[in-house]
Amino acid sequence: MKKFFSVSDAGNLSNLVDKALDIKSNPFAHKHLGENKMLGLVFLNPSLRTRMSTQIAAVNLGMDVIVMNMGQDGWALETKDGVVMNGDTVEHVKEAAAVMGSYCDVIGLRSFPSLKDKVQDYSEDFFNKFNAYCKVPLVSLESATRHPLQSLTDLITIRETWKSDKKPKILLAWAPHIKALPQAVPNSFSEWMCKAQEENLVDFQIAQPEGFELAPSFTQGASIYYDLQEGLKDVDYVYVKNWSSYENYGELYQGDASPWMIDLEHLKATNNAKVMHCLPVRRDVVLASEVLDSDHSIVIQEAGNRVWAAQAVLKSILENI
Ligand code: CP
Repeated sequence: MKKFFSVSDAGNLSNLVDKALDIKSNPFAHKHLGENKMLGLVFLNPSLRTRMSTQIAAVNLGMDVIVMNMGQDGWALETKDGVVMNGDTVEHVKEAAAVMGSYCDVIGLRSFPSLKDKVQDYSEDFFNKFNAYCKVPLVSLESATRHPLQSLTDLITIRETWKSDKKPKILLAWAPHIKALPQAVPNSFSEWMCKAQEENLVDFQIAQPEGFELAPSFTQGASIYYDLQEGLKDVDYVYVKNWSSYENYGELYQGDASPWMIDLEHLKATNNAKVMHCLPVRRDVVLASEVLDSDHSIVIQEAGNRVWAAQAVLKSILENI
């Protein structure tokens, strides 16, 4: 692996999940692979899971790690080409990424969308520029439109909790929120589940209100429901997530979204479904506490698996440096 931006960098999904689960069973088996190698983790917004799990993964591989919180510790970055930098930005991504690439063997980058300019966000302009200028393998720690380490984690978690020979039926369920959130996690989850469906590993469907369809390029092959109860019928996993509108870009749901918050009553329609969420989650806004505190919830196991997803990806990159 030379970079990790999307499902297209993952190769065969089953093989990558197998590698991650092997690592989970023997985390320190490749302790020398990352010796004398530096990982730079660059964050443009806050993180708990991504920051900690990727550092642990790197240390398990024997790497050293530097974390750079650009918003607090770095200079304000300019990303547009050809601007006279006489405003608030102090350093151009052209120099900043090149310098970080000269210090590090591998870089992880978390950026985020404006949610104001769809064309700009979906061009992944910042991420692509950083990649072009840093000149070392780049791992997405979440970009404007995708969160591939989260999606790999989710597939790992489904694999290790599914105990039947038949394919699991998986629902991505839109949930309420008080703030406009990116589409990165649901885009990515859908993209990975559609590929897993192509590989005959899962059956995948999405339930969302009208106007909250994801970009069609991320949902090829998914069955779509506009009625939550219909979508929940007989599913084995419910992946709960809010996202703001792609069509009316960045807009919140207008009206009372609370019927979309999944509680124990909703889950009666499922096949005793396991409930997943990438976290952080606002209790009793996005997902009912009674679900999070029940045996349906596998969110802590899911978050724990972030380490093995990151370690599988970093190992594969280190093997190709
Ligand atoms: N799920 C996830 O990426 O969590 P953080 O934003 O805390 O890293």
